[in-house]
Amino acid sequence: MDSTSKRELLVSKIDNGIVIDHIPAGKAFQVLRLLKVEPDAQAFIAQNVDSKTMGRKDLIKVEGTYLTSRQIDLIAFLAPDATLNIIQDWDVKEKRKIQLPKQVEGIFRCPNPLCPTNAQYTPSRTIFKVEKGERIEETKLNCTYCGSVTYYGPILDQLTRDGIAVEGSGLVSQEKIERVLLDALVKGGALRFQPTPKEPFTLKSGRKSPYFVNLGALTDGESLGKLKWAFASYIALQMEKGEIPDFDYVFGPSYKGISLAALTCEGLRELYGMKKRFMYDRKEEKGYGDMTADKVIVGAGYYKPGQRILVVDDTITTGATKIDTFEKLHLLEDHKVVGLVIAVDRQEKMGDADHIEAKTPSENIEEELGIKVFSIQNIKTIYSLIKDGLDPEMKRLWLEYYNKYGAVKLE
Ligand code: CTP
Ligand code: ZN
Repeated sequence: MDSTSKRELLVSKIDNGIVIDHIPAGKAFQVLRLLKVEPDAQAFIAQNVDSKTMGRKDLIKVEGTYLTSRQIDLIAFLAPDATLNIIQDWDVKEKRKIQLPKQVEGIFRCPNPLCPTNAQYTPSRTIFKVEKGERIEETKLNCTYCGSVTYYGPILDQLTRDGIAVEGSGLVSQEKIERVLLDALVKGGALRFQPTPKEPFTLKSGRKSPYFVNLGALTDGESLGKLKWAFASYIALQMEKGEIPDFDYVFGPSYKGISLAALTCEGLRELYGMKKRFMYDRKEEKGYGDMTADKVIVGAGYYKPGQRILVVDDTITTGATKIDTFEKLHLLEDHKVVGLVIAVDRQEKMGDADHIEAKTPSENIEEELGIKVFSIQNIKTIYSLIKDGLDPEMKRLWLEYYNKYGAVKLE
């Protein structure tokens, strides 16, 4: 056994997450700091281990975390040519070389106080062209607004001292997000299961359901923190996968969507360094007579034609309230809704106790409005997690409900 493999054995393998390998010796802690790893995540650091290619190297492994493109770009300034391994089910699923980006947006500051990116009010987002040097120390950034040059020293200072990079943490896996959300919903009473066969919940539709979802039940700070974390993490993950396009506003339909949108907007900033604004609608709009955007939509004052909106809400039962909401959004000239994110999809067909329509509310919204619906959790996953604890009679009620109204089969 050569010395490399002996050392590597000191750091155990991981089942899901990332391994950043071939980090220049001594840089691991600086890189780790950029990642802002969740406090409960398992992470391993190996410093100054022997490497076949680079003499000594550092290495980092983080369980259950994935990197945003922003983080990969930042790591490149500290550890150019490091290798990023994405591990899934113990295997190296993807291996890529970390490379300096050609351009960096919205991360570094321009040294010129008169640059439009440093304006006191409504500063422009910085865009730098990256000029690679022979060695990493010779790398420079050129501001595309004013032409000012930032050298490697100040770049490193901004990265390691000023904390700019610490804005924005790694992505978490879908499974972890699902778990945290479900835990918060159940503990906080937002997801309730019929306790005995005789006590079903009667829904607005008249259907007698074995469970009930109401995010309005979450009123304690801890649950709200988890909601914030789950919505922001889910959205960041879907954006990174290219499923949710970039957007300017998080919109929450009144009433329940309002607090969710505010939490999400703040979570995206705190956890992922994304700067979005928050908007919501007034319900009492009909009394006003003149239906102008700023009378109906709070936050519309910042809106500029062509901007994009992400809508968040708890769940959709009929689809009708959502269609209403999207009507109101038409007051915003030339807007685009990039998607609707809900906490839980009931995965059942529209209609009432006796009438069952062909479509689910999500399909209805996708077809009628061309808006894609994303759900963080859904009933099929939830059922698969709780079914072993249900007695046979309760199980039968769940299956019966979903045989009748479901868009999915429960097993
Ligand atoms: N790794 C891990 N857990 C796994 C699989 C791999 O921690 N389940 C780590 C390995 O210890 C190694 C890195 O991920 O540090 C890359 O794995 P692999 O491609 O198998 O190793 P090498 O061939 O040494 O990589 P390279 O060619 O990039 O040097
Ligand atoms: Zn500038």
